[in-house]
Amino acid sequence: MTQDEMKRKAAEAAMQYVVQDEFVGVGTGSTVNHFIDLLAGMKGKIKGAVSSSVASTDRMKKHGIPVMELNNVDYIPVYIDGADESDHYLNLIKGGGGALTREKIIAAASEKFICIADETKLVDVLGKFPLPVEVIPMARSMIARKLVKLGGRPVWRENFVTDNGNVILDVHNLRIMEPVKMENEINSWAGVVTVGLFCNRPADVLILGTPNGAKTVLSK
Ligand code: A5P
Repeated sequence: MTQDEMKRKAAEAAMQYVVQDEFVGVGTGSTVNHFIDLLAGMKGKIKGAVSSSVASTDRMKKHGIPVMELNNVDYIPVYIDGADESDHYLNLIKGGGGALTREKIIAAASEKFICIADETKLVDVLGKFPLPVEVIPMARSMIARKLVKLGGRPVWRENFVTDNGNVILDVHNLRIMEPVKMENEINSWAGVVTVGLFCNRPADVLILGTPNGAKTVLSK
């Protein structure tokens, strides 16, 4: 089974978490794209979606799924999103697609966060996937120097601008033993918009697509 087929399995299993007659939070990425395509099949049964990126909004609009501004929605029972890595405590690295800030906002606004991924994303220690950090453009070099002091090797994602008009540094060579501490530290630096560690608000449920179907993982 291909990685994409495993992503599809995870997206299919996430459909059972969508609450009828309510809004659903929708993340970004190739796994979520499968979810959006499936959500189109029940668009008349939900109030609408709150989207974490221009890309997901465009895809949902093409399907005729109503997309609402977060400011106009006061309750989101479930947020469905992918991840670049998850550990066994469901701490995540996200932002491979550059949508981390809006994703973190919707995750924070939602009651339950269901993460969908193929089984290759589950790791013992976060950090093999380069950690994305969204940065205000004028702070790029200053933040890069601070990331080097943390032991990482930041690489500017060139020719990429986030939906918020900022830049991304992808930090290589990290072995993240204390993810909450690192999230808090990097987020405290002036110039950082957000770091792609989702650990203060980890996922509540991780659905992994495997060659044998979808497998549900709860935090250790
Ligand atoms: C988007 O910025 C990311 O956080 C995605 O959720 C993450 O990169 C997962 O993407 P895939 O589903 O494409 O692997």
